[in-house]
Amino acid sequence: MTEEQCRQARRYLAQAKRVVAFTGAGISAESGVPTFRGSDATWKGIPAAVASSIGLLEQDLTTAWEWFDYRRTLLKAVSPNAAHIALAQAEKRFAEFLVVTQNVDGLHQKAGSARVVELHGNIWRGRGLRSGRRYDLPAAPLPALPPRGDGDEPLRPDVVLFGEMLPAGAFEEAEIAAARCDACLVIGTSGVVYPAALIPLAARDAGAAVIEINPEATDLTPHLTLSLRGRAGDIVPRLFEDVA
Ligand code: OAD
Repeated sequence: MTEEQCRQARRYLAQAKRVVAFTGAGISAESGVPTFRGSDATWKGIPAAVASSIGLLEQDLTTAWEWFDYRRTLLKAVSPNAAHIALAQAEKRFAEFLVVTQNVDGLHQKAGSARVVELHGNIWRGRGLRSGRRYDLPAAPLPALPPRGDGDEPLRPDVVLFGEMLPAGAFEEAEIAAARCDACLVIGTSGVVYPAALIPLAARDAGAAVIEINPEATDLTPHLTLSLRGRAGDIVPRLFEDVA
């Protein structure tokens, strides 16, 4: 990222009243959370993509939970980084500021962001298999798998698995905010997973300045206003330095 690119991004933000920050796994990378692509991670010999699939959950709920509880236990020790914190602090400085995240790690909320749309759910919640009711599950590891809710109802992780639709309402809320915003930050996402990747494109189509923060070019790069190459933890705090 050049100084001029940084100034340009700051000018867009200084003029903006409504901001959407669209985030992916890369914003949590500096907290020590691995990203998805470029990883051939396996768990107990099962590829991560299979362990996170609706197929496995339907076949074997306990094994699916073992995988998620393993991830929850790793995430328990992880803290928000400078990028999460900068977004949380920026929230109060704009008339409207919404974080739209594909991450399930809860780090935006841990950093203090109050307005967060989670397109892919949250690993710290469970959901009733029968009722659909959501439960906060802060313990990691959980004392028993699968965890159970009222009436002994088995719960599943409240996350979007491979092969599933997004939770009702989340995408729509994000899309409405994207179509209204003046500036959209696209932070740490490869932009290859749909429908989530439509959010920055909706902002662009509505005339917003769309600013990417990523060490690498992505599928979205050619469609966006400005691309800042570098790490989220270095760049995001700098973008808000002068925004009153
Ligand atoms: P990916 O793993 O696809 O992409 C991570 C992006 O972060 C890449 O473009 C990296 O270049 C970038 N990156 C790495 N380190 C970074 C840093 N320090 N600062 C900024 N960017 C950095 O992750 P997502 O785009 O989030 O879906 O993946 C989208 C969805 O794919 C996930 O939500 C998940 C997965 O399938 C579900 O689980 C439903």
